[in-house]
Amino acid sequence: MCGIYAAVSNKSILSELINGLDNLSYRGYDSAGIAIMNGEHIERRRAQGKIDKLSHLLSTNPLDGQIGIAHTRWATHGLPNVQNAHPHMTPKVAVVHNGIIENYPALRTLLQNAGYQFESETDSETIPLLITLYLDKGLTPELAMIKALQQLEGSFALAAIFKQYPLELFAARQGSPLIVGQSVDGFSLSSDQNAMPEQTLNTCNLEDGDLARITQQQLTVTNLSGDQIQRNLIARQSQANDTSKNGFAHFMLKEIHEQPSVFKSTFAHYLEHSNTQQSQQFKKINSLTNKISRLTIVACGTSYYAGMVAKYWIESIAGVPVDLDVASEYRYRKAPIQRQAAALFISQSGETADTLAALRHAKSQGQACFSIVNVTNSTMANESDVVLPILAGREIGVASTKAFTAQLAALISVTLVLARENKLVTSTQENEFIKHLNQVDTLINQVLSHQKNIKAIAKTISLASNALYMGRGSAFPLALEGALKLKEISYIHAEAYPAGELKHGPIALVDESMPIIVVAPNDELFSKTLSNLREVASRGAKICLLSDENGITQAKDFITHHITLPTVPEALQPIIYNIPLQLLAYYTAVERKTDVDQPRNLAKSVTVE
Ligand code: F6R
Repeated sequence: MCGIYAAVSNKSILSELINGLDNLSYRGYDSAGIAIMNGEHIERRRAQGKIDKLSHLLSTNPLDGQIGIAHTRWATHGLPNVQNAHPHMTPKVAVVHNGIIENYPALRTLLQNAGYQFESETDSETIPLLITLYLDKGLTPELAMIKALQQLEGSFALAAIFKQYPLELFAARQGSPLIVGQSVDGFSLSSDQNAMPEQTLNTCNLEDGDLARITQQQLTVTNLSGDQIQRNLIARQSQANDTSKNGFAHFMLKEIHEQPSVFKSTFAHYLEHSNTQQSQQFKKINSLTNKISRLTIVACGTSYYAGMVAKYWIESIAGVPVDLDVASEYRYRKAPIQRQAAALFISQSGETADTLAALRHAKSQGQACFSIVNVTNSTMANESDVVLPILAGREIGVASTKAFTAQLAALISVTLVLARENKLVTSTQENEFIKHLNQVDTLINQVLSHQKNIKAIAKTISLASNALYMGRGSAFPLALEGALKLKEISYIHAEAYPAGELKHGPIALVDESMPIIVVAPNDELFSKTLSNLREVASRGAKICLLSDENGITQAKDFITHHITLPTVPEALQPIIYNIPLQLLAYYTAVERKTDVDQPRNLAKSVTVE
């Protein structure tokens, strides 16, 4: 998704801006650009495609100055081409923008009627043109900026430089994140804390309605009425910003291999607390809701599937009914909201626009809101009543892997606390659960050590155009997650169904060319799934079965491939069975030579609706 980096420094700024763009690139983008104040004019360079195209352009056509703005664009309004790339500018002002200006058609008409011409198809270009309209009327840059901002509807974060104020950077935020960083050389500004340079000493999160003016020496923040606002720069927490692949071919593979230790440390974080009666955090949840009698879980994508696994866990182990919603539906669905109930929002980034809006909606309806996030100073974390961190470390691969596993570690902890609250587990049972959960890292390592077979299966799947996944019970969300991983990184069309649903339509698709990946732990539902497996086998389907040794033996006459997994207690199955699904998607994508870490059209943090 779009990213902003800007800086004002006592040194030449170009390499810092390029570095900032590189650090933003993991978010996904399709064009990039830079504008620099060279003392007299604002100059810009933009390129379609990867940042090295922009760097190449800059090597033949360089820019120099000490203040500049930069942007990675993920196209929303208009094609991903040079004209639509940011910065957008007039001779007086250049702007980079994240978010969507919802009233841009009206603003565009207003500006065109006033004689201003658009070069791009974007909503973003209305901003520099609107500012220029006010500059042309004789307003100062700060007043022109305020006037323009007052007219913008939607969510945005933006940075601007003015010809008239060659030593100042302006920034404004309404709904999209923006962070200011201070170093000995000056200030930087970014929409993503991961893009902040290593030498950053202090940071400050801008808030909605803020207008910041930044010089080499100073940060000043006002609201849109021009009143000064106190925003403190606080010492930056040391960042475990491991951005190397550690010898792995891709970040995704590295992150898959981090899962044993990530699960272990996330679970230990909650276990430590919950062992001593109750954790502070869990206590806080209880004090907000007294006793959770019903829980709403809201999220998007992979985080939503983690929520779906949790629904199975929480209902069956803790006896609490769970309403599960995709955030973009929940926020508009007008569902009756039970006062004093609890709502849980799951988001790796903590910035996903729909999940954030859903959280704000639930909060406005009096719900106790807690969030499970990876980025603990994200907007969602800041706005939740209770934050449950997943401590997965930075996830760079666009396709989420270790964050999913860490979300499951937090969610099984929540399940255990609720089960204990509801007196549905005895301490002996709880200890038994914990004993098993403490073995998860060893079990994941066991799965990771058998990748040869998965690679071979991936080779055959890579030749398919479509694939079906199926599972029952908590294996169904895994089937969904497995299909999502396959489609997003290999571009093979994949769908997932509850195994029992196949007969109600999708079985019509089954023939010899359709691989079917069946997620079937050898539990009480296994015999049911086995019947579904026979049905598709008799229609010629090539089946890949994920089960334990006993399950594989029972199905051996009907299957083409199998992935043998350890026999594990039911509650652990989703955590363990997800690992081979990730690997299958990964090796299929490698076989098809796609861009595994930055799949086309996708963004790491979806900050627009
Ligand atoms: C898929 C994936 C996405 C995200 C979704 C929500 O691999 O990563 O589906 O899970 O965009 O993102 P967060 O968790 O940041 O809210």
